[in-house]
Amino acid sequence: MADGVPNSALAPAPPMGWNSWNAHSCAVTETDIRAAADALVETGLRDAGYEYVVVDDCWMAEETDDDGRLRADPETFPSGMAALADYVHDRALKFGLYSSAGSHTCQGYQASLGRERVHAEQLADWGVDFLKYDNCGDHRGRDAVSRYAAMGDALAAVDRDIVYSICEWGESDPWEWGRNVGGQLWRVTDDAVAKWHTDRDEFGLGIADIVDRVAELDIPAAQAPGGWSDPDMLQVGNGPESGQSRHEPTDIRRPLTAAENRTHFAFWCLLGAPLFVGTDLTDISRTVLDILTNEHLLAIDQDPLGLQGTPDRRDPTREVWSKRLHDGAAVALWNRGEDPTDVHAHVDETSVPTAGDRYSVLDGWTGEQWETLGELSATVEPRGTAVFRVTPLDYSAASSTS
Ligand code: GAL
Repeated sequence: MADGVPNSALAPAPPMGWNSWNAHSCAVTETDIRAAADALVETGLRDAGYEYVVVDDCWMAEETDDDGRLRADPETFPSGMAALADYVHDRALKFGLYSSAGSHTCQGYQASLGRERVHAEQLADWGVDFLKYDNCGDHRGRDAVSRYAAMGDALAAVDRDIVYSICEWGESDPWEWGRNVGGQLWRVTDDAVAKWHTDRDEFGLGIADIVDRVAELDIPAAQAPGGWSDPDMLQVGNGPESGQSRHEPTDIRRPLTAAENRTHFAFWCLLGAPLFVGTDLTDISRTVLDILTNEHLLAIDQDPLGLQGTPDRRDPTREVWSKRLHDGAAVALWNRGEDPTDVHAHVDETSVPTAGDRYSVLDGWTGEQWETLGELSATVEPRGTAVFRVTPLDYSAASSTS
């Protein structure tokens, strides 16, 4: 860690960026990473806040050097990681790499257990700003806390700020210890796949399954500025052709629909989740780009209070969720069903501070604004989600009495 920067200051808001795994899986090359960095700039995603470019699994050569240092694969990353970091930094972006708290990565490459100091120094020398640290390989009998603390200590000892992304899949309740071992984000679920719902025998969780899982976990208290619960990277824009979909044994027959993409993004923003785009940016549609750069949704994700949204009311078709914001709250009305449905809510059942008697409502998707005495409602498309930013009109009175 660079002089005097506390861990929590490295991620005051949920980190945002792009990660190679969902788009390219194990076929990733340095050409893909350069193209993604260029595309982040050209599409306006960087200027919307997506600043990290993270190379996930499969960047390493099969063997380390004689001192146990990781080597970049000479075929797929011939320029090496320092040069790639420079390329990314030259575009005013930050650079991330991946390793695992075990003997090997999930795809069988060399990883960092027992070599944390050497690898953290390497990352710092290369100019790395972010480490995603997975849970695969032989753990040599060590528990998660000890394995993740070893890398947290190693990162704290180097003279560079490196955001520490703990990818432990939620197996040992990382929301309870992630911050204490130096993490700024910790995965709370299995891998998200580009599908609405997965069957039990399929790999990964669909988007609706992840929301259900987070609701069950009931861990909002773990999250605050500086440390974030991570429901996995975004699948917005993905379908059967994306890298991870081809790689994993999940039966994916069609891309996520526009409504599914919007609900996916709405929930990640409502949760205050890290936002790592996982689609191929060289082939991104206007619709998907508009979702990912929606300023109203991003402001909900990045709100300075840093709270996690919570469910207010759930039934098989209609769900109401809300997230307290610094000047009010965001309310999501989710239609889980297959037909257009009216979803109603009242501010009294949500996180909206209710001392006022009138509220302004901003529709996060359309930008339309109106006033309400408390009723909120929308006709919501199948699998879609209406998102309202609700602000008490006399907010200073509301905040002093709530
Ligand atoms: C999984 C991890 C994914 C991805 C993959 C790479 O364990 O959850 O996000 O990093 O490994 O092999």
